[in-house]
Amino acid sequence: MSQPIATTETQSRPFRKFEIPVTRTARPRPRPADDTLQFGTVFTDHMFQLDHTEGRGWHDPRIVPYQPFTVDPASAVLHYAQAVFDGLKAFRGSDGVVRLFRAQTHIDRLNQSCERLCIPPLDAKLVLESFHALIAVDEAWVPYKRGTAIYVRPTVIATEPFLGVRPARTYTYFLILSPVGSYYPEGINPVKILATDKFVRAVQGGLGSAKTGGNYAASLYAAEEAKKQGYTQVLWLDGVHRKYLDEVGTMNIMVKIGEEVVTPPLSGTILAGVTRDSILTLLRDWGIKASERPISIDEVIAASKTGMLAEMWGTGTAAVVSPVGVLGYKGERITINGGKTGPLTQKLYDTIVSIQYGDSNDPYGWTTPIAPSMLAR
Ligand SMILES: Cc1ncc(COP(=O)(O)O)c(C=O)c1O
Repeated sequence: MSQPIATTETQSRPFRKFEIPVTRTARPRPRPADDTLQFGTVFTDHMFQLDHTEGRGWHDPRIVPYQPFTVDPASAVLHYAQAVFDGLKAFRGSDGVVRLFRAQTHIDRLNQSCERLCIPPLDAKLVLESFHALIAVDEAWVPYKRGTAIYVRPTVIATEPFLGVRPARTYTYFLILSPVGSYYPEGINPVKILATDKFVRAVQGGLGSAKTGGNYAASLYAAEEAKKQGYTQVLWLDGVHRKYLDEVGTMNIMVKIGEEVVTPPLSGTILAGVTRDSILTLLRDWGIKASERPISIDEVIAASKTGMLAEMWGTGTAAVVSPVGVLGYKGERITINGGKTGPLTQKLYDTIVSIQYGDSNDPYGWTTPIAPSMLAR
């Protein structure tokens, strides 16, 4: 049994016409050293919670000490996986300012996921406020070292205890924060990926474009098989023809063939990656042809045989870009750009990272500074 969390007096943070109560932990934990941070293993001292009840809507936003909470064993989420989440980061710049990256786009996507899973929409402004308020309260947890960040994980779960299959009548939104290390401590590193035509992640009309746990559960078996064969991630092919590229692991995929960058279209089977969108914006601004069109594994392999396959990379919040050094498919292993990070991959990484840390200006308005906390100790 976990110990009850001792708390200090309640403060509150004004939001619109009401106040968000903030109950602080009386036992703040020490923050781990920046050098020891990994991904998603450590959580900050507090969390944000908000409930939804049919007829009443979303209510009772609050910040409380980070702690386990109880859910009824009959809760819909535990049986039928009615739940969604999203994932974004905030970065501490060399100026000390903490900036969220593309928070509004992530909130819009969270609400799209809610719609697909029949979860009542969240108030986007309140979700944004939850990010700002919680990061302000736990600001001391935002690491300093370049490459580190605070990972922001908003989640909604269906809490109604009911075993019938229909949308639940009660939900909880919660937000947790995790200080995370650099994905590639020594700079970006190429990964080995395995294209599979044996398993599929999603099909048109399914849940592929929603950020919901079932998609990740569906990916585990194939990912374990790929790991046994020495690969880091699975390159998913479409569920119908098993030949068009979908996504790679938890990233979108991009291929540079000759002078054109190609990425699969948002046709419902893949997540509309925020990094994908940022990269398409940069490429088009730089005058590079960036096409969103179906691309088959055969086209990629043919391009590698004619020497036209210049670079290939995955895009996602965790690593920004992950160069693909080796692509496996049906027993073949193709090495891309000599297994090294290509120049365009590197330039994209450097450009996005420098916007994230506030080192270069932000012409697209992608970053939002966390308002200095009225609640800071
Ligand atoms: C399945 C999947 N595809 C793509 C992405 C990349 O999306 P983003 O760039 O918004 O992190 C992620 C990560 O969130 C993901 O889980």
